[in-house]
Amino acid sequence: MSHHDMLEDEDRIELEHSDFDRMVQKGLNRRGFLKGSATAMSLFLAASPLAKAVAAATESKMIGFNAVPASTADTFVVPAGYVAEPLISWGDPILAGAPEFDESGMQDANAQAGQFGDNTDGMSLFPLSADHAVLAVNNEYTNYEYLFAHQGKQALTADEVKKSQAAHGVSIFEIKRNAKGQWQVQKGAQLNRRITAYTPMELTGPAAGHELLKTAADSTGRKALGTFNNCANGQTPWGTYLTCEENFHGYFGATGAIDLPAREKRYGLKEKSSYQWFTQDERFDLSKHPNEPHRFGWVVEIDPMDPTSTPKKRTALGRFKHENAAVTVDNSGHVVVYLGDDERGEHLYKFVSRNTYNPDNQAANRDLLEDGTLYVAKFNAADGELKGQGEWLELSHGKNGLSAENGFNSQAEVMIFAREAATQVGATTMDRPEWVAVHPDGNTVFCTLTNNKNRGVEGKHQPVGGPNPRAKNNYGQIVRWWPRGGDHTGARFDWDLFAIAGNPTVAEGLYQGSSNINADNMFNSPDGLGFDDAGRMWIQTDGKYSNEGEFAGMGNNQMLCADPQSGEIRRFATGPIACEITGLAFSPDQRCVFIGVQHPGEDLAPSHFPAGGNSKPRSTIMVVRRQDGGVIGA
Ligand code: FEO
Ligand code: CA
Ligand code: CA
Repeated sequence: MSHHDMLEDEDRIELEHSDFDRMVQKGLNRRGFLKGSATAMSLFLAASPLAKAVAAATESKMIGFNAVPASTADTFVVPAGYVAEPLISWGDPILAGAPEFDESGMQDANAQAGQFGDNTDGMSLFPLSADHAVLAVNNEYTNYEYLFAHQGKQALTADEVKKSQAAHGVSIFEIKRNAKGQWQVQKGAQLNRRITAYTPMELTGPAAGHELLKTAADSTGRKALGTFNNCANGQTPWGTYLTCEENFHGYFGATGAIDLPAREKRYGLKEKSSYQWFTQDERFDLSKHPNEPHRFGWVVEIDPMDPTSTPKKRTALGRFKHENAAVTVDNSGHVVVYLGDDERGEHLYKFVSRNTYNPDNQAANRDLLEDGTLYVAKFNAADGELKGQGEWLELSHGKNGLSAENGFNSQAEVMIFAREAATQVGATTMDRPEWVAVHPDGNTVFCTLTNNKNRGVEGKHQPVGGPNPRAKNNYGQIVRWWPRGGDHTGARFDWDLFAIAGNPTVAEGLYQGSSNINADNMFNSPDGLGFDDAGRMWIQTDGKYSNEGEFAGMGNNQMLCADPQSGEIRRFATGPIACEITGLAFSPDQRCVFIGVQHPGEDLAPSHFPAGGNSKPRSTIMVVRRQDGGVIGA
């Protein structure tokens, strides 16, 4: 089990269910679904004509490569005619004067603060010219078994906590393409920057300055220090980078007594945490600084073109365990940001800016994310249907029961406890919303629902139904929706399931997967998601790599290419042992794709990626191009 899964397994208060969930629960109970086994349920669903709602896939005209087979090898595999090379690995120097990586684990916090952080995740590319760009990359977390010589088997010292903090955050660096077509990191270049758990940041928007954001070190409630557990990302049309704070709770703990209310526990905060920061750094001690965690769980906006700029935490986008931030400009000019909250039974959100985007004056767009309205999704469907309608419920103080009598005294509190607000308005519990991606035509939105072992389990209040159609969902699915009338600011949408991951070789009914899943492309736990300019959709996985039992034949984590029109899904790349594939960015000419390989060899699984031999495994960004210089995927 990965550190990531461990964090998600930590106890938290179980959810109240929404009206829709109650309706489904009633329907299912009536037929005894929840009392039956998974197999009984899958047989019922297989017999239902509704199970055929996902259209059969036909061969894609837009995908041109030959699929790669599932792999259990300790390598990164791409299709025939493609080349994959490492761009940068954890510990490679970025800032001037930073030392080269040393795999002893003895380098200190200072060294790490000038080097590429650990566990690469979401990333965006900002072009400077055809062959010169800035890459902004999240460094989500770090593996103590590789970060330290003692492999994390000893309690951390204060210096070691500082090193851990420096391995987190964001890395920003210039890259250039040489005559051979290879992109290379420009060490010490002008725009290079490391952002860590101690970089000064500004809190902006409706929660900024609120009592709940004030601490002993910051009486204004507007000046936070750092960002960590930066999962996926977003990119704005005005040239900024969005980094999303996900499992922030895992860094906090308490040396003294604490008594957390339910709305705090829902974020996973508790006395102990695996990262141990609170043991050496008082800022993370909940018994001394109970408001510090309120300053995390936000989307942070960074200007990658100004290394001296202060990153801004955008509280208007709500506080939860953010996955990514999919930005689109609606026909009306309002900026819409779709946001997943990655935890079992949590929700899917969207933000609509108050002001409109001005393509002729980029400076005027700088604070569009400071002011707007947050909504949360409620999915509707008839019993057993794999498609239906949905609505966006507004999370504004004074509306939909978000009142003082229900515990919300201001818009600031609605944003700080967005999860509780979402429950209050009746949002649908989801199977862990990971990345959202908007099709380049602007009409369709997709979200990976990675898996959810709690779905349909008694006492978890996450009933089977709608876009979450399987109990103990171990494979995941991809939901797709169309805003009514093409209006991303509107309240209504229609949805279906683009793909239901599954295993047609060992499972039955819905657990076999939708008709576009077969023995040659099966995968589990879709997570990273993005489009290229031509509208090919790229799916990355963060699943079980046992390759046994219900996961037999799926191999290591991988990246697949999907044609949204035909429904076809084809495997494009496979990663090394015990890795997750996460993070993608295309060069502006679409002839190179940057792909993140996170945590190879996690928990001391036998990986030596990328250097081979007996080397320590290192999280690495791979650059993939075609030998003939053609467009990726075509
Ligand atoms: Fe950091 Fe939900 O993945
Ligand atoms: Ca993820
Ligand atoms: Ca994941």
